[in-house]
Amino acid sequence: MNILVTGGAGYIGSHTCLKLLEQGYGVIVIDNLCNSNPKSLDRVCALTGKDITFYEGDVRDEALLRKIFATHEITAVIHFAGLKAVGESVAQPWRYYDNNLNSTLVLTKVMSETGVKRLIFSSSATVYSGDNQMPLREDSHTGGCTNPYGWTKYMTEQILSGLAHADKDWSIVLLRYFNPIGAHESGLIGEDPRGIPNNLMPYITQVAVGRREKLSVFGNDYATHDGTGVRDYIHVVDLAAGHVAAVKYAAANTGCEVFNLGTGTGYSVLDMVGAFVKANNVAVPYQIVDRRPGDLDECYADPTKSERMLNWRAEKSLEDMCRDAWNWQSKNPMGYGE
Ligand code: NAD
Ligand code: WQD
Repeated sequence: MNILVTGGAGYIGSHTCLKLLEQGYGVIVIDNLCNSNPKSLDRVCALTGKDITFYEGDVRDEALLRKIFATHEITAVIHFAGLKAVGESVAQPWRYYDNNLNSTLVLTKVMSETGVKRLIFSSSATVYSGDNQMPLREDSHTGGCTNPYGWTKYMTEQILSGLAHADKDWSIVLLRYFNPIGAHESGLIGEDPRGIPNNLMPYITQVAVGRREKLSVFGNDYATHDGTGVRDYIHVVDLAAGHVAAVKYAAANTGCEVFNLGTGTGYSVLDMVGAFVKANNVAVPYQIVDRRPGDLDECYADPTKSERMLNWRAEKSLEDMCRDAWNWQSKNPMGYGE
């Protein structure tokens, strides 16, 4: 069975390609490499001893998609391709709406025409509005997004659920990721953000490896146990396994279903720094600075629907996440770029 993975050269995509190959799926990737390096796929092939068919191109390129669907018998699509930097989306809203919405519209148009109607979509916990009680359930309030990136995820969920409502042959799984961190235990693939990292864990690992002087902790006056923001960090290898579970679910069901992919446990920024230092015995200097606009006190999942219906749960510990993130960064101080 062949799975088309859009954005497969990226952070979560490359880990998912590896899991799919390990489980015997054929993997075809389309990626325009706007935020990734094709070395990630070379390394996935080296780790598994299997091949990936790679198309360098844009998911909005309808002719290329037609060619891919005509060339391969595709069972399902996992759609990772998208721009994901929150701050950049505020500065460049049109680019984010164009890329993230049009990629999904073109992809589902070609899928519909070729009769491939199983789709797994990378959504985000960012679609939940700020007025919810924790933990977040799939039926918690959504909307009220604070940036264009979040709106693209919210709107794509609307588009895809409308599609499944109108055509009962579709099987669509919306996966709302919480905070993916860590790397494959080999240290050969991992997260390699361009420029200054927006997210906490890559910032921590870049401080630890000496690329940045110190971590800025954004606020220590939140309503949490130590005043710093609390999030639900999930190991990227667990997240990848969640996609294989979703592919199996989509093969056996129709309609549109939404699932949280999180652990259900929240950790603060200072918990994360402490766990990283303890797991790896390296220093992570930090300073407390002002809050980052738009950040919530806390955000963590209720993962029980995924456990019940996808038969999936996160297995890896915070220590695993910290160790594997450092294993990747220390073996690849400049990411894929050297
Ligand atoms: P990533 O940037 O590492 O991977 C995305 C990949 O998509 C990149 O390889 C990029 O080159 C490619 N891409 C982007 N636009 C494309 C286009 N139009 N055509 C072809 N390729 C294109 O990001 P990631 O962390 O692996 O995230 C994957 C998906 O998961 C994204 O949709 C992201 O919004 C979503 N997500 C990520 C997180 C997170 O914290 N990493 C959390 C929630 C949701
Ligand atoms: C985590 C915590 C920060 C950096 C973002 C997106 C979300 C999703 C995941 C895609 C917060 C604090 C961070 C730093 C810090 N992505 N922090 N210093 O904000 O929960 O979610 O990534 O869908 O949409 O918004 O993740 O890693 O940026 O922050 O103190 O240098 O770490 O304030 O409490 P966030 P994050």
